[in-house]
Amino acid sequence: MSAGTDQDLLASVPTGLLVGGAWVAAQGGKTFEVIDPAHGTVLLEVADAGPEDGVAALAAAHAAQEGWARMAPRARAEILRRAFTLVTERAEDFARLITLEMGKPLAESRGEVAYGAEFLRWFSEEAPRISGRYSTAPDGANRLLVRKRPVGPSLLITPWNFPLAMATRKIAPAVAAGCTMVLKPAELTPLTSMLFAQLMSEAGLPDGVLNVIATTRPGEVTGPLIADDRLRKLSFTGSTAVGRRLLAQASDQVLRVSMELGGNAPLIVCEDADVEEAVSGAITAKMRNGGEACVAANRILVHRDVAEEFTRSFVARMESFVLGPGNEDGTTLGPLIDERSRDKVAGMVADATQAGATVVTGGSVPAGAGYFYPATVLTGVTPGMAIVQDEIFGPVAPIVVFDDDAEAVRVANATPYGLVAFVFTRDLDRAFRYSERLESGMIGLNTGVVSNPAAPFGGVKASGLGREGGAEGIEEYLETVYIGIRDPFASEVSD
Ligand code: SIN
Repeated sequence: MSAGTDQDLLASVPTGLLVGGAWVAAQGGKTFEVIDPAHGTVLLEVADAGPEDGVAALAAAHAAQEGWARMAPRARAEILRRAFTLVTERAEDFARLITLEMGKPLAESRGEVAYGAEFLRWFSEEAPRISGRYSTAPDGANRLLVRKRPVGPSLLITPWNFPLAMATRKIAPAVAAGCTMVLKPAELTPLTSMLFAQLMSEAGLPDGVLNVIATTRPGEVTGPLIADDRLRKLSFTGSTAVGRRLLAQASDQVLRVSMELGGNAPLIVCEDADVEEAVSGAITAKMRNGGEACVAANRILVHRDVAEEFTRSFVARMESFVLGPGNEDGTTLGPLIDERSRDKVAGMVADATQAGATVVTGGSVPAGAGYFYPATVLTGVTPGMAIVQDEIFGPVAPIVVFDDDAEAVRVANATPYGLVAFVFTRDLDRAFRYSERLESGMIGLNTGVVSNPAAPFGGVKASGLGREGGAEGIEEYLETVYIGIRDPFASEVSD
């Protein structure tokens, strides 16, 4: 079932704040415009939450927490499973909405919907498996009972690059664990979250469990929530700079935190790699989501012996990308999210060429409306250049040549980040040596994609804390309670 025209689809999106089960205007009636990055035009005006709206949302989450935590795990699982079915039935509407507000090509949005829906199914299967243990203390004197309980009201802050999947990756484990939530979606792409929140109510989520507050004043709105002792958990996906500020704020209340922060992924092509497979993997790792992903290959490190062959084939594949609005037939690369991001990427390429890199393809901003930037390849890049030290977050691939594995590992690890690394080699021992030496939370071996709802997604070093997805994902929303029990036979002996 599809909502008809884009206007019909937009008209079906709730535009208020979701507080305690009701869609309401912001106190003071403020609104803001959501922009289509392909044309620079306004899609919708939505409620712009202020600090008092945030506090009302947290009060609703806090009020709902006790009853929600008592709901049977199977009942929470059924809500997630119904939500999976509803998202799957409405996949085309979600995909179109993602493309409208975020810009990626429709085929990629469809991929995101499938990916995002899987978090609902995965965590519907995890909810009934929350367990603990009962054991005898080593000295036999006591019994040790260990149980899990929901952490409590959680503030979820999601980014604009995967408007559905980043929301479901946080909401689904929180629902499975029995936590209530205040979701603050990115102001650039709030519409998908609003449509999804409406769907969660249809799936049977009780009022107050999920509250949604979009805002153009994130710091002013989230600051008081993080300082409020009714909040017990903060989960954030976004830049390391913002993550550091939130961590500092969260330390006051010693909040549980999950931080999925910036990346600077190396993609290493060894001299024994299947070069065509490595090219395909590099295209996926670089160009998925137009390069606007924290797992995007930020530095392509290629062994000197295969550098020419790899570069020739990689450039040909990059040149085949068709730039345009995501909902036009044939488009394979959409716009960047906004003017600031487009200018930042263009500036990084200009700086790299000044520092001695060569633009082999792409490298210039096209004329016309929208925030477009072409698929770009840079060669002659050296490890010290800013383009390989900062996160690009765009369709630009810098190629760095290396001479041996030790050099590749040294260069790959020479960054404060450690989210993901990709390695292409046909030698199993070498693959495992790289896996053990790379300072990274995730490793892709002969593949350009690691993201999977059944796997623990997350980084080390400045790339973050905690894991999302997999069996680990639900643990982020559970706390451990230990109950020490006197030896039940002690009374028998003394009776
Ligand atoms: C991200 O860019 O933050 C997440 C990407 C993914 O889940 O693959």
